[in-house]
Amino acid sequence: MTNFTEAPAPALLEVDRVTAGYGGPAVVRDVSLAIKEGRITALLGANGAGKTTLMRAICGMVRFTGSIVLGHELLSGQRTERIARLGIAHVPEGRGTFIDLSVEENLRVGCFARSTKEGAAEAMERIYGWLPRLAERRTQRAGSLSGGEQQMLAIGRALMAKPQVLLLDEPSFGLAPRVAAEIMRLLRRLQSETSMGILLVEQNIEIALGLADDAYVLRTGAVVASGPAAQLRGSHALRDAYLGAH
Ligand SMILES: Nc1ncnc2c1ncn2[C@@H]1O[C@H](COP(=O)(O)OP(=O)(O)O)[C@@H](O)[C@H]1O
Ligand SMILES: [Mg+2]
Repeated sequence: MTNFTEAPAPALLEVDRVTAGYGGPAVVRDVSLAIKEGRITALLGANGAGKTTLMRAICGMVRFTGSIVLGHELLSGQRTERIARLGIAHVPEGRGTFIDLSVEENLRVGCFARSTKEGAAEAMERIYGWLPRLAERRTQRAGSLSGGEQQMLAIGRALMAKPQVLLLDEPSFGLAPRVAAEIMRLLRRLQSETSMGILLVEQNIEIALGLADDAYVLRTGAVVASGPAAQLRGSHALRDAYLGAH
């Protein structure tokens, strides 16, 4: 009677045949992907492959054709702030913390997108539970934090909204390996303690595939490989996506 087949995790966010760019030739071309509940999905590809642009399309920051659906909501044409309120949190490249604000004030900025009844104080305590180092520094100016702590703060701010989907654009960029490992441990913990779907752009392929459940590989804007992360490890498709892409 035991059924060992894994139940398919429901897709939280479905990107269907999305093409996007900046007015010139499309830099994301006909991309389809699903971000599933409680799973980490890695988005891989060489520099300039279109990873950041795809995240921007999901957040309503660049125009696209095709469809992006969160639950029952079609995101096409919606404003970025509304998309955030619907449950998508974005930690862009380069962190973007407000360096002159304190840790606590930075977290409060994340409140704008909240649609839950949870109070701000309660949300903050939830985040300090995941990021105790921020709790110790709650009154400290964000600009005085280390690079790793600032990245943690940017993630903490995104989590204030209790998002359904968390988009992380190269969260370990420029950090020492030890600090990058700490970020990855946090993601694993978030995965085990919440039902969020996480889309992770990460330059280090080994780290990304070690952490992710599913992965997509972009090459010059198009998906050239996708599947369970464990299967993509060492595959030809993955290697080819990085070769000759410059
Ligand atoms: N704001 C922009 N305006 C015009 N072109 C852009 C802009 N941002 C990125 N691009 C171009 O789009 C392509 C994809 O970039 P990007 O999405 O940042 O790739 P990745 O995140 O995978 O490195 C690149 O050729 C890049 O030069
Ligand atoms: Mg990028």
